[in-house]
Amino acid sequence: MENMGIEEEKGSDWGKSLPVPSVQELVRNDPQSVPEKYIQHHQDRPLVHDMASSSFDIPIIDFALLVKGDEHETRKLDLACKHWGFFQIINHGVAEEVLLKMKAAIAAFFGLPLEEKNKYAQAGNDFQGYGQQYVVSEEQKLDWCDMMFLITLPHEIRNLKYWPDTIPGFKEAVESYSKEARKVANEICTNISLLMGMDKDGLKRFYGKTKQAMRMNYYPPCSRPDLVLGINPHSDPDIITLLLQDDEVPGLQIRHKDKWIHVKPIRNAIVANVGDVLEILSNGVYKSVEHRAITNERKARISVATIKIPYDELEIGPMECTVDDDRPRMYRNIKYLDYVRYTLGRKMEGKAHIDNILKIEST
Ligand code: OGA
Ligand code: NI
Repeated sequence: MENMGIEEEKGSDWGKSLPVPSVQELVRNDPQSVPEKYIQHHQDRPLVHDMASSSFDIPIIDFALLVKGDEHETRKLDLACKHWGFFQIINHGVAEEVLLKMKAAIAAFFGLPLEEKNKYAQAGNDFQGYGQQYVVSEEQKLDWCDMMFLITLPHEIRNLKYWPDTIPGFKEAVESYSKEARKVANEICTNISLLMGMDKDGLKRFYGKTKQAMRMNYYPPCSRPDLVLGINPHSDPDIITLLLQDDEVPGLQIRHKDKWIHVKPIRNAIVANVGDVLEILSNGVYKSVEHRAITNERKARISVATIKIPYDELEIGPMECTVDDDRPRMYRNIKYLDYVRYTLGRKMEGKAHIDNILKIEST
């Protein structure tokens, strides 16, 4: 995306992504065209016709039971994080109105004319704003997706120049949803601390204060969904992700036992997944699982990934309680900033980044 008049200023140390055109515009101008840069290599193309057949159900966690300390539900959470890396949260207590307003705010943003959206385009050296992430070379296959990335919490680190101020209710919608999402994420982390054998604040004591960011995705329809990917396979470089997705339009797929499994939307549910940081802190007990999104011919799809991330300076590595003679340390320590820079500095290639720089070879 071109920068339209936004002055370059100091961005973040996180690094940047090359500018790419808006896919939404591309489709608007020529709905049939699928430029070569989006056409995946044969082995990476999705099977779009087997939607129903390969539709496993990923674990469903009843949040209300979890909050009450229900043992069965806690055990389900443990197994979900170990074997799937993903689960859907129902009864999370976030009001339907808050979810609907959040989705409406995203739809309103992507509904703006391109010149308007470009007022919030990523400045040349920043990763926040309207644009794309992980684009690092001219050769790589691009996502069939436009994106808006905002740091949302804590308040004092927001960069308001990226917050659309002409959409009525945008800020309020993000405000309400981010608070609710933080509560849900914290409750999950509390439970995971207990499951890891610590007290409920174990993880929190380790990572201290955290940040929250939102990646808002807009996947336009595609005339050839069998050739493209909405988002290329990746794992999330965070502690935990909460994904709010379209109730009607499926697209998310996760890798499970070497197959791509569809995640069927459940109305008003929130999809949660373990991020790389939690995998590393738990010494590989909990899995940050590869996922991707596919597109469809008819309907645009909207989603928002709300991510919980540590501050840049945090040194991440397996926590003491996870390492013993039977389970030696599987990852090196690394400063979170260096980890993010590494992941953002190359194209998404599944989980190659963890394996390449952090995995300790077992002897
Ligand atoms: C993400 C992501 C999947 C989806 O934004 O990190 O994985 O279905 N999104 O939008
Ligand atoms: Ni993701």
